[in-house]
Amino acid sequence: MTAPILNAAEPAAIARAADILRAGGLVAMPTETVYGLAADAANAKAVARLYEAKGRPRFNPLISHVPDFEAARRHGEASPLAENLAAAFWPGPLTLVLPARPGGPVCDLARAGLATIALRAPAHPAAQALLQAFGGPLVAPSANPSEGLSPTRAAHVAEGLGDRIDLILDGGPCAVGVESSVVAVRGERAILLRPGGLPRAELEAAAGPIETARPGDTGSPGMLARHYAPKAALRLNAAAPQAGEAFLAFGPDAPAEALNLSSSGDLREAAANLFACLRRLDAEAARIAVAPIPEQGLGEAINDRLRRAAS
Ligand code: TXA
Ligand code: MG
Repeated sequence: MTAPILNAAEPAAIARAADILRAGGLVAMPTETVYGLAADAANAKAVARLYEAKGRPRFNPLISHVPDFEAARRHGEASPLAENLAAAFWPGPLTLVLPARPGGPVCDLARAGLATIALRAPAHPAAQALLQAFGGPLVAPSANPSEGLSPTRAAHVAEGLGDRIDLILDGGPCAVGVESSVVAVRGERAILLRPGGLPRAELEAAAGPIETARPGDTGSPGMLARHYAPKAALRLNAAAPQAGEAFLAFGPDAPAEALNLSSSGDLREAAANLFACLRRLDAEAARIAVAPIPEQGLGEAINDRLRRAAS
């Protein structure tokens, strides 16, 4: 049976989702970055089912979603830097990895047994409403089978996981379109573990210079080289498509008939379109050529996802 899709703006849909979560079920919820697959963070059985539904390796820990920083403090040790970052960017596309408070409610499985915990307050009103109605932390990885493209529409969730979960809340297309930036805060040091929906320059304006984790850094267990991957082979930084390739363009100079991430060259628009465009071309062709994307603003996150999709 495939999961029902309910309008996330309906209070009754939020109430039903909260009931399902309390009973240990799995609910796809919209966030401003990508759709997340939510489960009760305190319920190890629910979290085990979530790992199974996604086919996700259990060494890869989950983000606990909370309504605000006050709630986050109950789960992680907040340094002044963490507090500043949350004050500047929460709710929003920023995940903070903090030392975990011992004895907190989030189960060990959700944290993959680490001494740290990833926390995020999502801005999407439906995610906020669900957190309020549920009344506790919700783990929510992107709502796609492990390693696949992240979902930015309710229909993407239904395609990938519809037969393995209990409910899908439809909150419309995700405004940001790439996952949150993940920043580990170690005292007054901030280390970018995953570039994402909050551009580096904005982070640095609030927090000073941000260090970057290298691939294989033990601080970022989830940064598998191959990830966010379509079935098609990807060729990056392509000026034009070759025979047999579908083309994903960027900017005003591209041929008018090409699918374009943003024909005005707007990187925010490109991020919001990225996963839906890759899905569309993946259904059409076995090889996709992608135009060069500038490494500024959200371009850093877009290029990170494209490199992983290509590897
Ligand atoms: O925008 C997002 O972050 C979305 C929405 C649904 O909130 N969620 C998401 O979750 O992208 P997921 O599970 O696909 O990615 C979480 C990332 C992984 O790379 C994971 O390894 C990392 O966060 N992570 C989680 N806990 C961590 C920890 N304690 N230390 C280091 N990295 C951690
Ligand atoms: Mg993911």
